[in-house]
Amino acid sequence: MRVYKRQMRCRSDIDRLNGQFLAIFDSLIPPEEEKAKQKQLLTLLEKLIIKEWPRARLYLYGSCANSFGVSKSDVDLCLAIEEPDINKAEVILRLADILQSDSLQNVQALTRARVPIVKLMDPATGISCDICINNVLAVVNTRLLGDYARIDVRLRQLAYIVKHWAKTRGVNETYQGTLSSYAYVLMCIHFLQQRRPAILPCLQGMEATYSVTVDNIECAYFDQVEKLRDFGSHNRQTISQLVWGFFNYWAYRHDYTDSVVSVRTGSILSKREKDWTRRVGNDRHLICIEDPFEISHDLGRVVDKFSIRVLREEFERAAEIMQYDPSPCVKLFEPY
Ligand code: GTP
Ligand code: MG
Repeated sequence: MRVYKRQMRCRSDIDRLNGQFLAIFDSLIPPEEEKAKQKQLLTLLEKLIIKEWPRARLYLYGSCANSFGVSKSDVDLCLAIEEPDINKAEVILRLADILQSDSLQNVQALTRARVPIVKLMDPATGISCDICINNVLAVVNTRLLGDYARIDVRLRQLAYIVKHWAKTRGVNETYQGTLSSYAYVLMCIHFLQQRRPAILPCLQGMEATYSVTVDNIECAYFDQVEKLRDFGSHNRQTISQLVWGFFNYWAYRHDYTDSVVSVRTGSILSKREKDWTRRVGNDRHLICIEDPFEISHDLGRVVDKFSIRVLREEFERAAEIMQYDPSPCVKLFEPY
């Protein structure tokens, strides 16, 4: 690990970095024209799909819909077909066939993936997209994340910076044992729920105003978030302080042996109460992040003995940079 000779950065020094972090955040926001192009592609796909499945619906989910999408993100779509006993692989192949015969490019049917998808690129807009079938839980968790983002702008700022850091440092690769963007956003929500005073409430702990049952899971939470716009106003922490705090928490304060991060309860649970204390199959539970709806699902399950070290070293590197480096906004995002 790097050893810095410079003095520790004090709170007012950290505040001075605020403008730089906000400039990075602004530079990552997708321009309006990109949003318009996504809509254009969605309309085209809906037209093609409705001919084959008249009662199906196409939903946008993931970062294009949860407001955590940086410029040039791939578009995630979910085709919802309410027919009993559909064979997803067959639907994927049929869908790829239909899309192939239109003007779309690079249409691929990935029927054997953990989540089977059709991948494609639209030459008119230059947008790549993945379409999955009946993954309605993802549509609902997208909605929850989007609602949290509407409560306090600092969540969007923090999550953009953390996602940007994770991508440039190579720790946003689930197939290599590091965490998904979805997991990082949940870590940011949890972190802001834990500030004192809290910056975000726990929407699932409040009276439910939205409720839907998906795959036998009841998904319910308070969604009238326009009423919560002032929720975090008693906490004046700036984005640079929060970035510092986030990395400090994951580098030095999180109890990796016993803690589970839970946005659902707005608290930390113990691995014992979740029965996540040992390896079961490929799930190792070395860093535990509970899915807010599928509560038996640990988003850290992809992390193994090797990648947990990589992750923790990256959190420590980021925390050190925030504390001591003379130009943290450059160093933090240096490609690995
Ligand atoms: P980028 O594409 O990296 O900008 O981020 P993203 O927000 O699209 O995230 P990601 O690609 O990680 O996942 C896309 C969406 O799939 C998420 O927003 C979630 O809605 C959903 N998702 C991802 N991983 C899981 C998971 O393990 N369980 C569930 N239920 N949903 C997931
Ligand atoms: Mg995505």
